Amino acid sequence: MEQANSDLVLQLTVVILIAFFSVSDGAAEVGVKGAYYPSYIAATYPSTSIDATLFTHLFFAFVVMDPITFEVKPPDSDTEQELASFTGIVTASNPAVRTLVSIRGGGVEATSLSQMAANPTSRKTFITTSIALARLHRFAGLDLDWESPKDATEMHNFGILISEWHAATLLEANHSNLPPLLLTAAVYYGATIPFNSSHSYPVSSIASNLDWINIMAYDYYGFWTPSATAEHTALYFNTDYGISTWLKAGLPPHKAVLGLAMYGRSWTLANASETWIGAPAVGPGPPQPISGEPGFFFFSEIMQFLTNSNVSTVYDNRTVCAYSFDSKTWVGYDNALSIANKVQYLMTRKMAGYFFWAVSFDSNWTLSNSAFSTMGSYSSSVASSEPEAPVS
Ligand SMILES: *[C@@H]1O[C@H](CO)[C@@H](O)[C@H](O)[C@H]1NC(C)=O
Ligand SMILES: *[C@@H]1O[C@H](CO)[C@@H](O)[C@H](O)[C@H]1NC(C)=O
Ligand SMILES: *[C@@H]1O[C@H](CO)[C@@H](O)[C@H](O)[C@H]1NC(C)=O
Ligand SMILES: *[C@@H]1O[C@H](CO)[C@@H](O)[C@H](O)[C@H]1NC(C)=O
Ligand SMILES: *[C@@H]1O[C@H](CO)[C@@H](O)[C@H](O)[C@H]1NC(C)=O
Ligand SMILES: *[C@@H]1O[C@H](CO)[C@@H](O)[C@H](O)[C@H]1NC(C)=O
Repeated sequence: MEQANSDLVLQLTVVILIAFFSVSDGAAEVGVKGAYYPSYIAATYPSTSIDATLFTHLFFAFVVMDPITFEVKPPDSDTEQELASFTGIVTASNPAVRTLVSIRGGGVEATSLSQMAANPTSRKTFITTSIALARLHRFAGLDLDWESPKDATEMHNFGILISEWHAATLLEANHSNLPPLLLTAAVYYGATIPFNSSHSYPVSSIASNLDWINIMAYDYYGFWTPSATAEHTALYFNTDYGISTWLKAGLPPHKAVLGLAMYGRSWTLANASETWIGAPAVGPGPPQPISGEPGFFFFSEIMQFLTNSNVSTVYDNRTVCAYSFDSKTWVGYDNALSIANKVQYLMTRKMAGYFFWAVSFDSNWTLSNSAFSTMGSYSSSVASSEPEAPVS
């Protein structure tokens, strides 16, 4: 009986240790503190101005896929120069930061990606040229921003594409003797896209072939919903609902990275006395000096707006967002407090970390610092490998 007991204890210990190590195998080794760098505004915001010490991963946005040849390449020679210098510049101040090349895929580009993913030959061209481009410019990984596969067939092809891409990166690593390139993708906030008859992401292919996904938990409202104010990054119910659909579909939490917005969405109020979330509006707010789009504020422009004495700010703990308004303009956004609370949320969910769209929109590193210090030394692979409470 004694002996049997100690054998049982030994067996249980072995089982727990195996569980411990097998869960952490393949997980991101650090908490992801990421941000996209939009290179197309390099003239006003050069990569030399990034404080790379506040990030673990920086995504160079964007390169493109040629719609005829399916080769991945910089869209123009200016971007090519930015791409060539990027890794050297950001690793100079933070040698540990990892860089990823992000491939654009919105609007008309989504149609080309759909064609590429449907055909083995064009997939091979896409895969080979993307890997070569990343290696040429000393990037640590590749990120695909296909927004978004539009039906079940495209979702299926997306699953095949990332599986072949993953296999190709392993083979390439074998030949080059370098660590395999990281592979990530930016995705819709939920695992199922409800429009145009609902269609779901290939979650099991994502789980086995991507290092993680960047979940775009923003733009729930904007100029396309002009008649009422709204929080475009509402944690409840939007983001929390979306994250739940990903996890219920089987995505391991350590492969889920939460998107955080460094920008607000604005409206022009219909009535200066009605300023709550959901208040009547007559359309998007006015374009701001640097960003220049109706209904849109960089976080840095919101900080400028707040210097006016007629502006009030409210923190809404229901949506976990802030909003600010004068008698005409209303803007909903994330401030340092809501960012800290959203980072707390992702840690509770044992997610891998966060990414910002986009690093250039911060003001004096306020949001970058808030997220960085809130996450601290948290690491999802450690969090997710904690053994469950033993069964008594
Ligand atoms: C809707 O789905 C169909 C096929 O299911 C596809 O052909 C069509 O392009 C999709 N439309 C949009 C707007 O995504
Ligand atoms: C890498 O190379 C080793 C030894 O040459 C081989 O056993 C392994 O299967 C290769 N892996 C891939 C993904 O090709
Ligand atoms: C503006 O809102 C206030 C408060 O809800 C209301 O009393 C007032 O009638 C509104 N004004 C107009 C012109 O609708
Ligand atoms: C949210 O704020 C309201 C008003 O200040 C407060 O009554 C409520 O307890 C807060 N809820 C949470 C969850 O903090
Ligand atoms: C608020 O104050 C600023 C600066 O003083 C001014 O430019 C702006 O027009 C004011 N806004 C409203 C709605 O009165
Ligand atoms: C920028 O942030 C630093 C510390 O984070 C602070 O000391 C400084 O006053 C801030 N500058 C401005 C202009 O807000």
